[in-house]
Amino acid sequence: MPLLIRNGEIVTSTDRYVADIFIADETVTAIGPSLPAPGGTEVIDATGKLVFPGFIDPHVHIHLPFMGTFAKDDYRTASTAALVGGTTTLIEMCCPSRGEDAMEQYRIWKAKAAGLSACDYTFHMAVTRYDAATEAQLREIVADGTASFKIFLSYKNFFGVDDGEMYQTLKLARELGVIVTAHCENAELVSRLQQELIAAGKTGPEWHEPSRPEVVEAEGTTRFATFLETTGATGYVVHLSCEPALQAALAARARGVKIAVESVLPHFLLDKTYAAREGVEGLKYVMSPPLREKRNQAVLWAALEAGEIDTVGTDHCPFDLEQKLLGKDAFTLIPNGIPGLEDRVNLMYTYGVSRGGLSLNRFVDALSTRAAKLFGLYPRKGEIAVGSDADLVVYDPAYRGAISAKTQHMNCDYSGFEGVAIDGRPDVVTVRGRVQVRGGAFVGEYGHGEFLRRKPPVEGANAG
Ligand code: URP
Ligand code: ZN
Ligand code: ZN
Repeated sequence: MPLLIRNGEIVTSTDRYVADIFIADETVTAIGPSLPAPGGTEVIDATGKLVFPGFIDPHVHIHLPFMGTFAKDDYRTASTAALVGGTTTLIEMCCPSRGEDAMEQYRIWKAKAAGLSACDYTFHMAVTRYDAATEAQLREIVADGTASFKIFLSYKNFFGVDDGEMYQTLKLARELGVIVTAHCENAELVSRLQQELIAAGKTGPEWHEPSRPEVVEAEGTTRFATFLETTGATGYVVHLSCEPALQAALAARARGVKIAVESVLPHFLLDKTYAAREGVEGLKYVMSPPLREKRNQAVLWAALEAGEIDTVGTDHCPFDLEQKLLGKDAFTLIPNGIPGLEDRVNLMYTYGVSRGGLSLNRFVDALSTRAAKLFGLYPRKGEIAVGSDADLVVYDPAYRGAISAKTQHMNCDYSGFEGVAIDGRPDVVTVRGRVQVRGGAFVGEYGHGEFLRRKPPVEGANAG
């Protein structure tokens, strides 16, 4: 059924104006004042509301075998949570472990989403081993539309690659015109520091941060940038958490290295004291890179406002309390990660735009448009324009509420943001013209979500 979104304030990464939006056959077909509504059109009154392009979360884990267990969501719970929270496209990390066959796992990851997801999705393909057979598979995977890689410089012997494998991955990426996303920490230093802390009886979650200090992340970021510079590949630092790592990325960018930066929701709002909380409370807040000294938050917000941080993702990774308790006697055994897919838009809107200095245009850019551009989805996604997919978020800035595990859709028995106030929420959310959220509630169809095939070269990652 055609849809007319009437009289909303349209906000894109560059513009802000009041107009109607007409949608037919999955795309936006007209934008303007007082558009006609032919018979059979559903009209949504967006007066007093903001209309954003569907938000894109560039860093999500759904199926994740990790640290002896599995993250809890499936595509039903994750895509429901994404949509209720205003995210219409998610990019999941497909993460085979080092010993597994990349192509076999890629098929498994894809099968988990197909026919079930309510939002659109695509993948970053993790390269966790580099050999001739894997290289041939990676070429096929890129040809299948998965036009970005992921490497881990941490998680030794599991997801982690060594410098030689990083070099080979970047050379291949350069040849194919794909962007490489990277978890930047020094695996050897993390491993040594972990062993020393545990041997000294420092086993609680508050020791997770000292085992991966800021310099260890800065080293990983510097090394990744040096390898990008040497190979000419384009890179994207995931979940950057602190000032020294940011300085490393910006210094590389200033000398012409093609490097983009993502920071994730928890690092803007939480700090390392959360992991020092009593009992199971502290375990909830263990993630990598770890929550940092509070002073880093102001640095991240300023860099976000300045556009030095390109995107904001979540690194959504839901492990419930029983799983977190696997590490009650040793912080090295706590499954790393925290849920956030449902909360990113509302919390960044509240503490960035409503109560902070983040402009609405930069908010849209960082949470949608930049990711679309970096990962080969633009202008189909990340934009409100004639011809773009009708992925729209009609946002109610007058809504007042609070985050709670009791009401969330993510499959996790806690929220790291329990009780935190929000100043707004998505009222109506469409995915390619279909209303999937109405009045803030999921009313959607599972299986409506499409696998988005992306074609290299993606922006900046020119082949040759
Ligand atoms: O702690 C985290 N970030 N867990 C998920 C895996 C990763 O490093 O992205
Ligand atoms: Zn990571
Ligand atoms: Zn991650």
